[in-house]
Amino acid sequence: MAELIRSRASQGLTTVLGLATGSTPLPLYQELIRLHREEALSFETVVTFNLDEYLGLERDHPESYWTFMHRNLFDHIDVSAENIHLPSGTVADEDIESHCESYEEAIREAGGIDFQLLGIGRTGHIGFNEPGSSQFSRTRRIHLDPITRQDAAPSFGGLENVPTHAITMGCGTILEARRIVLLAWGEKKASIVKEAIEGPINDQVSASFLQDHDNASFYLDPGAAAELK
Ligand code: PGA
Repeated sequence: MAELIRSRASQGLTTVLGLATGSTPLPLYQELIRLHREEALSFETVVTFNLDEYLGLERDHPESYWTFMHRNLFDHIDVSAENIHLPSGTVADEDIESHCESYEEAIREAGGIDFQLLGIGRTGHIGFNEPGSSQFSRTRRIHLDPITRQDAAPSFGGLENVPTHAITMGCGTILEARRIVLLAWGEKKASIVKEAIEGPINDQVSASFLQDHDNASFYLDPGAAAELK
């Protein structure tokens, strides 16, 4: 990521990053902050688009992805506030469709995503593209899978506090990124990682669509890679 940002900046180009939340990218964000502080990596030429946001949470809710990204990355680097994009968690129902269209339009206007970072949920989701999401899906409202809500329950202090819906970039939106990197750590991801990489490409495992992308890589630790042939 640092090389991409630096090489594009040296040609006078911006870099559009698609960013992810969750525990998985935290070590990567720590390293980006270190590179900024110790090796003068500048994010002044970076434009960011996050994958998703919970519906029903204000920006400053402690569990909103807006808060997560500021706390874990944006507050510690020199990215401009106007270059940061996340879907809104508080858009009125009747405005969701146009909000999602504007998000897609903003990505296109920025020149498309140069580098998309992904985690993977136990449902196989990338972003919040739960089972049943088409490979052509675009940014939209999604009903969260029970497994996803269960995995989020501890941070929300109980399942009843976890939002039921989110806005997510679609699989089609994600697959248009020119470079995609998916990270997964730990044995609890091993079986879904195997399905995504070695299973059939199908809409029950959104991450399986990455098999068809010409510049996608999975970075796994031994736990997450444990079931691969
Ligand atoms: P995690 O979530 O990084 O907290 O495991 C990943 C995801 O649901 O995409």
